[in-house]
Amino acid sequence: MCGIVGYIGQRPAAAYLIEGLKRLEYRGYDSAGVASIVSGKLRIVRSIGKVAALETKLGGRALSRMGIAHTRWATHGKPSVRNAHPHADCHTKVAVVHNGIIENYQELRISLEQRGHRFRSETDTEVIAHLIEEEMKTAPFEQAFTYALKALRGAYGIVAISSDDPTKLLAARKSSPLVIGIGRGEMFIASDVSAIVGDVKRIVYLDDGEVATVSQGGYDVRTLNHRKREKDEVELERDWMVAERDGYQHFMLKEIFEQPKSFTDAMRGRLLVREGRVRLGGLRAVETRLRRIKRIVIVSCGTSYHAGLVGEYLLEGVAGIPTEVEMASEFRYRKPIIDRKTLVVAISQSGETADTLAAIREAKSQGALTIGIVNVVGSAISRETDAGVYCHAGPEVSVASTKAFTSQLAILSLLAVYLGQGRGLAPKLATKIVKALAAIPKQMEEVLQEAKSIKVLAKRYAQQDHYLYLGRKYNFPTALEGALKIKEIAYVPAQGYPTGEMKHGPIALIDASVLSVMLVPRDSVYEKNFSGLEEILARGGKVVAIATAGDLAIKKKATDTIFIPKTIEMFAPILSVIPLQLFAYFVAVERGYDIDQPRNLAKSVTVE
Ligand code: AGP
Repeated sequence: MCGIVGYIGQRPAAAYLIEGLKRLEYRGYDSAGVASIVSGKLRIVRSIGKVAALETKLGGRALSRMGIAHTRWATHGKPSVRNAHPHADCHTKVAVVHNGIIENYQELRISLEQRGHRFRSETDTEVIAHLIEEEMKTAPFEQAFTYALKALRGAYGIVAISSDDPTKLLAARKSSPLVIGIGRGEMFIASDVSAIVGDVKRIVYLDDGEVATVSQGGYDVRTLNHRKREKDEVELERDWMVAERDGYQHFMLKEIFEQPKSFTDAMRGRLLVREGRVRLGGLRAVETRLRRIKRIVIVSCGTSYHAGLVGEYLLEGVAGIPTEVEMASEFRYRKPIIDRKTLVVAISQSGETADTLAAIREAKSQGALTIGIVNVVGSAISRETDAGVYCHAGPEVSVASTKAFTSQLAILSLLAVYLGQGRGLAPKLATKIVKALAAIPKQMEEVLQEAKSIKVLAKRYAQQDHYLYLGRKYNFPTALEGALKIKEIAYVPAQGYPTGEMKHGPIALIDASVLSVMLVPRDSVYEKNFSGLEEILARGGKVVAIATAGDLAIKKKATDTIFIPKTIEMFAPILSVIPLQLFAYFVAVERGYDIDQPRNLAKSVTVE
């Protein structure tokens, strides 16, 4: 979504701000801008399109040694220069960048207009600059900033500067992330650690309701009521800053190929193969409560929701605990019935998804125990849940999630065994599961070796008008995930469906123009799937089958077949999703689209 970068220090700010914005490009945006105070006057430069366009527009014009910058993803008002951030007040003394949504901006705007303020944009953000200006009639910048915040309803990560006081960046957070980077004689502020450039070793995460004053020599964090907050400084993990493509054409392809490693990292120190057990240090603090839970509710969105659906099978099948999965965006408004014996599991790559965060807050307010399965360390969900297990997948840059999905499945598998251990999971079965998990990274390598033949298939089927993805039991969520991947990067209508439901309606769609991608591994529903495949072929449909290595019966029947290695039934989705990721990727390349930043999408959805 939108991105924020701020700098104050001893060096010219422009290079840091532009570099920071470039590092946020992967989040998706439509316009960008910078503001600085040069010779006592506010200077704002904005442009639509890529950060490179802003850089060109900025040209040689110098900024001072402080400034703020922003990449915008439109929410109020179309992408345009005048709607791009930073926004200023009437007299161009205050500039503001903002992530999130101000819910009461219309009423604020009307009342400010009645007091003579002139607005230049259609955005909700501009009211913040005018509110600060209004308050500055009677208070200094810092105080006026806090007063203005008190009038806002909604979600925000805000950074503001004023020509009245060029020695400070003021920042505030409510439901939209901000992090302060501490350098030597220079300070940064950003919505994402990856945007913090320069020699920064320590960072501070702002929490909701906090206001920070950042100056060249340090920072001061307070509540809205001016109470001082002591903040923990944490070491900045360099990994997150150096996400490069390593020779791959796109981050998505690189991340697909990283899966053997990311899967291994997810299991590292947690899978005790010789003992046939699982250890999850992140859950130690809530062990006693975990023993008492009677029910699990998983909340998540998009790809993470699909991982949750696989998790439902795993947790019920292995740990024997009744489990439900719900899209977080629905859960939060449903008045869910949960109690102290309910475990609510939030799954999120970014850890910042607004709906998932809201679902966790709702669950906590009803007394549930909450845990997070999160990739981004220190993110809001990881901080707000009672405990959690990090995915350790490393930075996922491509908007289309791939390696995070398989890492989430790794953690859910570990969690199922971990919870099962205390609830009578037979040691023999536990050992079988643990061994099968340990074998997955090598098997992933084998699937990845199929990339060339999947590319050939993708070329053959790239111009289809419609794709159907079909699977059953553990592989139904994989079908949903395959369809989501091709929708989001290749912009082709695609539907994921349970194979067994075809005859209840969707089979009417089948003709030569529809390609069905069918997940038919050798498992407990193999025969049923086989008949489903025959029914589609009998109606003139084409089928690409994802089958278990050596299954000649499927190979003979299906139009095309991709083999995956044999594993136990519950882990087939971890392998079968990889051909679907590759297929979507190659179809999108064939169609010539922007793979890593697909249209209309953002990497992390921090607004409702
Ligand atoms: C996946 O390819 C999507 N870009 C999207 O569905 C994503 O999984 C969803 O927005 C949830 O994000 P999260 O895992 O960061 O919470």
